[in-house]
Amino acid sequence: MLTPIGFSLLRQLSDGAFHSGEDLAAKVGLTRARVSQVLKQAETAGLALERIRGRGYRLLAAPDFLDAAAVRLALTEYGARVAKPGAPAPKPPVPALDDDIALNGVERPTADFAPPALAVEVVDQLDSTSSELLRRSQRRDIHGALLAAEFQSAGRGRHGRAWTAVAGGSITFSMGWRFEQGAGFLAGLSLAVGVAVARALEREGLAGVELKWPNDLIFRHHKLGGILVELNGDALGPSTVVVGVGLNVRLPREAKKDIAQAVTDLAAVAGRGAKPIDRNRLLARLAHELANMLALYAEGGFASFAAEWQQRHAYQGKPVKLILPDGAAVKGTVAGVDASGALVLADGPRRSRFLSGEISLRRA
Ligand code: BTN
Repeated sequence: MLTPIGFSLLRQLSDGAFHSGEDLAAKVGLTRARVSQVLKQAETAGLALERIRGRGYRLLAAPDFLDAAAVRLALTEYGARVAKPGAPAPKPPVPALDDDIALNGVERPTADFAPPALAVEVVDQLDSTSSELLRRSQRRDIHGALLAAEFQSAGRGRHGRAWTAVAGGSITFSMGWRFEQGAGFLAGLSLAVGVAVARALEREGLAGVELKWPNDLIFRHHKLGGILVELNGDALGPSTVVVGVGLNVRLPREAKKDIAQAVTDLAAVAGRGAKPIDRNRLLARLAHELANMLALYAEGGFASFAAEWQQRHAYQGKPVKLILPDGAAVKGTVAGVDASGALVLADGPRRSRFLSGEISLRRA
């Protein structure tokens, strides 16, 4: 498996030219022996590397590194607005006025629901893209900030679990958003993110991905990716939201074994013989769909996504078992989700609603 330092080395080699061991060692601050060791690991991870005594190392086929310029270019192709690198964050929209304030003929300012120009940033390594955006949100506006990392040293999943991803074989990113509304209105947001991600995958030719309540991405009952939505703000708003998305693109066999649940990757969704997944284009597609969804959610909440969410739910109409936080199990048939994203279970004529919290859904 590639380590972050291996990743830095591969970036040095990504021009396809020969680089001496000495040169590489100096650039990444390792000994030559360690460079040689790390590059051996890279070969084991499936990278085609040539080494010639006296000339050094050369990559025979460059891996598709995440690259901010490539993501920006693809975003523009998809019709998204992109902020210039280093541009300041957009200004907050004009606050909505109370209905009873007389406007004296002045045109009412309307909140701007169009997605902002996205500020794209790609880094090799971070503790967690979501933790970083949350930290930044203390100091500045993160509306429309897209932050992706090749490797997270402390990736976080739901329920306080760790999120494992592989450098070069995953997509891990977070997007910051500002909503005028508060937590109640945003209850269904993480489900709507699932819809946006599934749409993005489909648009990139990766069909057959399903959702599992509340917001797992699954393929043939194996986990493909996850969503973590975190928010800060007053109960009635405004709120700052950080949406974190992790997707397995190409997980080496050892990595799959290390993860405690049944996992799969997008390479399996694409199928044998499919052309390799371009992570930069995929990241751009995900960001585009996500930003469009977030802008629409600000207008109408989860209601406009509920029908599509149900269509994409792997367990719609199926018998399931919910494990509640106290360990108790509730059985029923999935009737759907309501306008706030709560799961509706049917047990004969009885209907019960469950808010996501710590509940986990299993096949019955
Ligand atoms: C889950 O438990 O299913 C949610 C996983 C969310 C992982 C993503 S990866 C990018 C972002 N940064 C994190 O630390 N977590 C989220």
